[in-house]
Amino acid sequence: MRLLIAGIGLIGARHLRHALEVPDVEVVGCVDPVLSQADVPHFASIDAVDVAVDAVLIATPSHLHADHAEAAAARGWHMLIEKPVAHSVAAAERISRAADGAGVQTLVGHHRRHHARVAQLKAMIEGGVIGAPILASMIWAMKKPDSYFEGNWRAGADGSPVMINLVHEVDLLRYLFGEVAVVTGVGSNAQRGAARVESGAVSVMFDSGLAASIGFADSALSPWGFEAGTGENPNIGTTGEDYLRISGSRGSIGFPSLTVWGDAEDWSQPAVPETCVGESNVPLVAQLQHFADVVAGRAAPLVSAADATESLRVTLAIEAAVAPRQEVAA
Ligand SMILES: NC(=O)c1ccc[n+]([C@@H]2O[C@H](COP(=O)([O-])OP(=O)(O)OC[C@H]3O[C@@H](n4cnc5c(N)ncnc54)[C@H](O)[C@@H]3O)[C@@H](O)[C@H]2O)c1
Repeated sequence: MRLLIAGIGLIGARHLRHALEVPDVEVVGCVDPVLSQADVPHFASIDAVDVAVDAVLIATPSHLHADHAEAAAARGWHMLIEKPVAHSVAAAERISRAADGAGVQTLVGHHRRHHARVAQLKAMIEGGVIGAPILASMIWAMKKPDSYFEGNWRAGADGSPVMINLVHEVDLLRYLFGEVAVVTGVGSNAQRGAARVESGAVSVMFDSGLAASIGFADSALSPWGFEAGTGENPNIGTTGEDYLRISGSRGSIGFPSLTVWGDAEDWSQPAVPETCVGESNVPLVAQLQHFADVVAGRAAPLVSAADATESLRVTLAIEAAVAPRQEVAA
């Protein structure tokens, strides 16, 4: 797969490092008006690209995804688009329309779906290990440094952890439990006081009747988060702690430890823990390999733009529900 990478900032640079190591991938260039990388052909814009390309990895700021996806579709390039698929549902639908019209594939960078431990969790739930899933409880609480927000697009509302981080969690929960019926929530910006939510509590009801709670904060120091638990992101400290607990009619399971609590009839007996061996991989690499398989016609996208649009829809509903406000009941 002759791959172009558009946007080589925080995540684009990580993709580039991995892409250079995947045998099925040949990096033919990077597009970025500001940054460049040694040893990789550089283009200042997509229009300027004059080499043969099969596929593009779009890692530009989210509000530019639709413009860049339309430009890619016009050139006949398959695309892997970073999450969120776009900044609005209308923009996300532009992406699916452009890709369908051009007959190219879309894959969206919800790379948790490519994590080996997530695959194990999904197989365990679907295999009935905890019976019917009833309840999920998640805490994602990480303290981002001030520099993360200074002098860039994250300084204002676009820096909300809902669109940047919870979109991953929403996609993961949809992957595990199906479609979402209702969301409610409360949020706050009490620590930083910026024009965006920074912490909150969300309730999610799935079509299946499963209820999930998500506590989130990007201003709180804690050991709980997907990245901290799994060690998936080299920029985030690893704790190995569970951040997600799922309870079902026959037992419960913690993630990422995959500790299963069961072997009891009802509350008269203590649930007994049993740990299984968790597998590990580098999900960004697995995602790139999957993208190469999709482009070669060997696989269907694990998460298409249309699928990711549903995760976006839920995430935008959460963003609206947790907008900080000062209401006091009379
Ligand atoms: N999957 C993940 O875990 C993950 C992590 C971080 C970011 N992201 C997503 O990746 C995207 C980028 O985020 P980031 O944190 O890397 O941002 P960033 O600001 O660090 O990088 C964005 C890059 O895009 C470049 N750019 C801007 N306009 C461009 C254009 N017209 N053409 C080409 N390049 C252009 C910028 O110069 C910059 O280098 C966002 O959609 C974000 O949500 C995903």
